[in-house]
Amino acid sequence: MKFIKTDSYAKLSRIAANIIFAQIINKPDCVLGLATGSSPVGTYKELIELYKNGDLDFSKVKSINLDEYAGLDGANDQSYRYFMNKNLFESVNIDINNTYVPNGKAADLEAEGKAYDQRIVDFGGIDLQLLGIGLDGHIGFNEPDCCFTKETHVVELDESTIKANARFFESEADVPRKAITMGMGGIMSAKKILLIANGANKKEILEKAFYGPITPEVPASILQLHSDVTVIYSEN
Ligand code: F6R
Repeated sequence: MKFIKTDSYAKLSRIAANIIFAQIINKPDCVLGLATGSSPVGTYKELIELYKNGDLDFSKVKSINLDEYAGLDGANDQSYRYFMNKNLFESVNIDINNTYVPNGKAADLEAEGKAYDQRIVDFGGIDLQLLGIGLDGHIGFNEPDCCFTKETHVVELDESTIKANARFFESEADVPRKAITMGMGGIMSAKKILLIANGANKKEILEKAFYGPITPEVPASILQLHSDVTVIYSEN
């Protein structure tokens, strides 16, 4: 594991964007696993700048996102599809048909999960998976549990996750209680993992995840078993 400590969110974002930049330069038709939430917003802004400067070409890139709230469709401004469109896809030359976010409105979410995992296989795997980390150690929406779940699956969100994500909604009551998330199989199958964490409140969970026991009670701890993980952390 490579651990990079920086002193600002701006630097964290620049370093993360440079790693993704290198990935796309090395393999223009790569598969990027992408995340939402507050952590990657700066990284996406940097990638947009690189694109606008003519340094980056997304035309052959495919992307597959980690998760989506159950019950929200892509037009809903709280959905992760909407987030991705607004924070990255609409500002670069990626083919929107090559971008995948789980369909939270699918009538059969289980079937949606199976098809999502098949898509990852059909892609030949994810080249680089970008991750944030929740205060309870979740990655994607893989919440603390008694076991690691391999497949893309439906989850009940933890109270702490609902509280943390309420800042994006009008009220806590509006936060969906369920989500569909890529499982640990999809995440761990990525060739490279890039985890970004910003803020002093993430320090404790990072320590637990990367220096504590590997346990499904701290979902991100499974990353200790991956051979190519880069963590970028900024306390500020
Ligand atoms: C989002 C996701 C989540 C977030 C995590 C941290 O797609 O998968 O695991 O990465 O909740 O969120 P932020 O970055 O808002 O602290």
